[in-house]
Amino acid sequence: MYHATQSQALHYKRVEMLFAAAMLLFPSVLLGGVAGEDLPLFKAANLGGWLVVEGWMTPSLFDAIPNNDLLDGTQVHIKSVRLNKYICAENGGGSALMANRDIPKTWETFRLWRINATTFNFRVSNKDFVGFSTQGRGVKLVARDDEPGTNGTFNIIRNSDDPLRVRIQASNGLFLQAEAESAVTADYSGNLDQWEDQDPSVFEMHIVKSLQGEYQLTNGYGYDEASKIMMNHWNTYIVEDDFRFMRQNGLNAVRIPVGWWIMYDPMPPQPFVPGSLLALDNAFKWALNNNMKVILDLHAAPGSQNGKHHSGSRDGFIEWGDSKILETVAVIDFLARRYGAHPSLGAIELMNEPLAPGVTLDSLREYYTAGYEAVREYNPTVYVILSNRLGEADSAELLSFAARLKYSVIDVHYYNRYSDYFKGLNGQQNAEYVYKKRSKQLQEITRKKGPLIFVGEWTAALYNDNASMEDYKKFAKAQLDVFGKATFGWAYWSYKCDQNYWSFKWMIENNYMKLG
Ligand SMILES: *[C@@H]1O[C@H](CO)[C@@H](O)[C@H](O)[C@H]1NC(C)=O
Repeated sequence: MYHATQSQALHYKRVEMLFAAAMLLFPSVLLGGVAGEDLPLFKAANLGGWLVVEGWMTPSLFDAIPNNDLLDGTQVHIKSVRLNKYICAENGGGSALMANRDIPKTWETFRLWRINATTFNFRVSNKDFVGFSTQGRGVKLVARDDEPGTNGTFNIIRNSDDPLRVRIQASNGLFLQAEAESAVTADYSGNLDQWEDQDPSVFEMHIVKSLQGEYQLTNGYGYDEASKIMMNHWNTYIVEDDFRFMRQNGLNAVRIPVGWWIMYDPMPPQPFVPGSLLALDNAFKWALNNNMKVILDLHAAPGSQNGKHHSGSRDGFIEWGDSKILETVAVIDFLARRYGAHPSLGAIELMNEPLAPGVTLDSLREYYTAGYEAVREYNPTVYVILSNRLGEADSAELLSFAARLKYSVIDVHYYNRYSDYFKGLNGQQNAEYVYKKRSKQLQEITRKKGPLIFVGEWTAALYNDNASMEDYKKFAKAQLDVFGKATFGWAYWSYKCDQNYWSFKWMIENNYMKLG
């Protein structure tokens, strides 16, 4: 454990003041993020999927969860078999449920909150929860509650002969039924042995999207089982030998994604389980032993800054915003206090991949300012990394802001995928794209007296199922060449992964990639 002692903190304050005085005399020395000639040039791998779980990287961790296709955030469409219509939250929420839609879209999509393996809340597109109301005639379902109550808790009972077919039981003990298109009611008490097409309580539930992150895993297993599984994962997925391997193969740093709940260890709020902080302490030790740096990366921010599984999201909504800034700064303060004086600390990244337009530029700048100051309380010169927004955002939008913050860095993620453009391109075509387009993009954001630039995530995995070893080698080499010119350096996604081409370790061991 490394805590900056008070005298260290004082020392830093003095250094900072001297530094400020020097800046007055020689303002050209260190304006903006660029630290003179001494560029760090990190070559790193992300320790992705370690302290923040991602299902696609470690799918077997999810295997033993009962009903593991119904985890938190699973999106479903529900069709009345008898009416052959989908259930809809009128206006996306705020009013009644109907059973009147031919084609399911947003208003017909329900997100599960899992209470246990068979009990759930349903959240609709305007973020309201479904519940039943006893006002008026019948027991009508409406979607208008901010929080799920007892009346919003439902059992899903699957037909063992036809996994699509379900009955849904409300907390009054009765089952949902759609007798007509105009309402869904919680008042069916008929025969449950039959699953006839004409039965108004028989529905088809279609899973259209699912999330597999740390929230889903821990809530899926429950505290006791999740604690065991995560502890084992933290202790075995990354060990000190991995640091030796990285060092021997040309890396000088690791980027470590962490979740906001780490600051509450050993008592993180449920469903998260304790232990990731000790694992992180170990990583700092191993980094020190192997002469490597740690780039700490707040990957999952409170409320979720991008709705992705890797943000710790429960249901895919982006709920990070102004109301979460203080809590998020507290996480940075915690990390900076604990590791700010550690000789292996290379940088602190304030937030990974905020997504526009859900996260606004104003909120983000306000947070980055406060987070930056929190780090500076403990260390005047450690690099502070600001991630560019993904989505509808200009890649230069943070440059002038960051230029005013000393030792600041902008993180950009370059993946030749997530767009049809890249689908099926071979290695040569991808390499050309990297040499032409990526190097131009890098040049455009690399400004004199601006922040340093970090390609904090990239991979040599191709968006092409028919690629040869040569294809991968070309693509990898192009990226090593081009991202090697990024002023702060780069980090491969990821060090290990169930999918081979995403694994730095596998790529090195199998001669797909070699660092110069
Ligand atoms: C469900 O119950 C809660 C409180 O118990 C209440 O506030 C809410 O309005 C109820 N929901 C509906 C749809 O009536």
